[in-house]
Amino acid sequence: MATYKVLLLPGDGIGPEIMAEAKKILDWMNETGIARFEMEEGLVGGAAYDAHGVAISEEDMDKALKADAVLFGAVGGPQWDDVPYEVRPEAGLLRLRKDLELFANLRPAICYPALADASSLKREVVEGLDILIVRELTGGVYFGEPKEIVTLESGEKRAVDTQLYHEHEVERIARVAFDLARARNNRVHSADKKNVMKTGVLWDDVVRRVHETDYADVELHHILADNCAMQLVRWPKQFDVIVTDNLFGDILSDVAAMLTGSLGMLPSASLGPADAEGRRRAMYEPVHGSAPDIAGQGKANPIAMIASLGMMLRYSFGMGDWADKVDQAIANTLARGVATADIAWDGARVVSTAEMGDMILAELKALAG
Ligand code: IPM
Ligand code: MG
Repeated sequence: MATYKVLLLPGDGIGPEIMAEAKKILDWMNETGIARFEMEEGLVGGAAYDAHGVAISEEDMDKALKADAVLFGAVGGPQWDDVPYEVRPEAGLLRLRKDLELFANLRPAICYPALADASSLKREVVEGLDILIVRELTGGVYFGEPKEIVTLESGEKRAVDTQLYHEHEVERIARVAFDLARARNNRVHSADKKNVMKTGVLWDDVVRRVHETDYADVELHHILADNCAMQLVRWPKQFDVIVTDNLFGDILSDVAAMLTGSLGMLPSASLGPADAEGRRRAMYEPVHGSAPDIAGQGKANPIAMIASLGMMLRYSFGMGDWADKVDQAIANTLARGVATADIAWDGARVVSTAEMGDMILAELKALAG
């Protein structure tokens, strides 16, 4: 059996609490011999700043580069609001994405039946929802240069961020989206702002070219990003896969999260290019943040973290059957009428982070037979 190196980066706020629940599952898989995970831990975000004065140390970056997969919790919190911009907690996350070249961010939004009433939208709008946002993650305005605030001669300040895309960056993310669509409902919406932005014009040209040459069997629709946001809350089930740039993907995925009942439900996978053996660098993280307001109180929802672990099994370790079981264990747990506070519906029994983790693990054990 292969041994997989997994780096755990719990981070800040609720990160360590939810990571502990994911780790229970990995430990159990090790104990039972389902898999062999060699786990290491590191610091990222405010935790790394407090220890080393940086958002991630070179040593931990090195571990991330050598790992088969990274499991990431969350970063940030008010106590680091005033640290220098270069070492703010988010800088650790962005450096991991950039240096590991994790250009493809997969954010599936699934509405579990038990949660259809937890969404702020009507049940019939979200019930049975299963969409996938494919967000470009290493380009665009997040990383484009110049990115600065300068003081003009007049004394006034001017800030600039740069939205920048090369053809190859659009092409590779488009391919990921089309490939994934083929294994789903074969429909892709490409969202940009080509009515205003040159990067949008190029984005659409490249997506169309890739489609025509290699993916003509997939249904492709163009959609303006603002309309996409509106359509997501109006009738989200029209979508299957949405492919979009780094900034629009950030925003649209938060919208999609609320369709599922809570931001605490959305997992994600960030994948790099495939090497000669087809292996990809990868990091798995919940879409929600560090939720400092509830940190340390046992209230956090570990589901997005556990579902991110499921994505790791699927995309990094070829354990799709176990990934399905993890998803099923989450669904079964919710179907028993238990919930963390963020998703609690009328009549649900509210449980702590650790209880939720234990119950999901118990369901998983039952599914394992
Ligand atoms: C996300 C987050 C990050 C982003 C932050 C924490 C830098 O919002 O993963 O969606 O903007 O990408
Ligand atoms: Mg975000």
